[in-house]
Amino acid sequence: MPTFAAADRALSPKPTLPAHAAARDDGFAHDLLQAFAERPREISPKYFYDAEGSRLFDRICELPEYYPTRTERAILETHAGEIAEVVGPGAEIVEFGAGSCEKVRLLLQALQRPLRFRPIDISAAHLEHAAAALRRDYPGLDVQPLAADYTQRLLLPASEPGVRRVGFFPGSTLGNFAAPQALGFLRTAAHVLRGGGMLLGVDLVKEPHLLHAAYNDAQGVTAAFNLNLLARANRELNTRFDLDAFAHAAFYNAPLRRIEMHLVSRRRQTIELEGQRFEMEEGETLHTENSHKFTLDGLRALAEQAGWRCGPAWLDRRRWFCVQWLQSPG
Ligand code: AVI
Repeated sequence: MPTFAAADRALSPKPTLPAHAAARDDGFAHDLLQAFAERPREISPKYFYDAEGSRLFDRICELPEYYPTRTERAILETHAGEIAEVVGPGAEIVEFGAGSCEKVRLLLQALQRPLRFRPIDISAAHLEHAAAALRRDYPGLDVQPLAADYTQRLLLPASEPGVRRVGFFPGSTLGNFAAPQALGFLRTAAHVLRGGGMLLGVDLVKEPHLLHAAYNDAQGVTAAFNLNLLARANRELNTRFDLDAFAHAAFYNAPLRRIEMHLVSRRRQTIELEGQRFEMEEGETLHTENSHKFTLDGLRALAEQAGWRCGPAWLDRRRWFCVQWLQSPG
């Protein structure tokens, strides 16, 4: 998952990281330490997605309040024919942040003779499992998973001459980036997919109460997903976060058109990380995620700034979600 919040941070002196933590580096130990050393305290949501976090996210997608997944699915189903037409036959599909690779099945079923599928995801275990299931279900499809952070520089093997490479970035993950990162990702994608196109799914601005419910579900799955960040630190980094000392908070920041997720300290506490101590006051938060909501015009302006040409967009009847076709100009 993307390095969303990192670039929002003000520059400040780097905390020291002991050698043993730096050695098993996926950046989590470093970024957690940095998050507690800085104000405001914030960390990239990419650290949600260990095996447990990915499992919880899959559960979120099934929740009655979390409309984006099922709304996007319905759009893909309803407009499968038109989508297959813009993608064209024999395409190579590249999915950024593929997760369980469930959504792409709708696309693969609709497309004419798709040649290859390259799912890219940071969670290697989740990805291998999903790729094996796809190979079983689509014997003619060349499935080439890549465990990588797709927000970093991305190198893909060259495809055969004449094969059209088409990106698939569903689920409004673009909304988890800060604006400069969203632009950066769209530029990288325009480069990797030059000559082809991209199907981009984004969540649209809507009534705040609908957004609030989607990130504050009655079963508490989103709360568990948020708290899993600290549970993961306890599992992997030998930290001793008391999960009962933190509460899930998610609210719609209307001027910034985004849901913000935080972990709120329920009492004054001392956090020990890599031999360093940090005080956290009651009510102080660790900002864990932004989920930006788009207007159609705003999305298109951003895509065009990144070098794409905007083609058709498909929306649901309530105009809650949009799948936008972006065409490579070159
Ligand atoms: C992955 N991403 C688009 C989800 C979202 O809606 O921003 C992550 C999520 N966070 C809480 N619920 C879902």
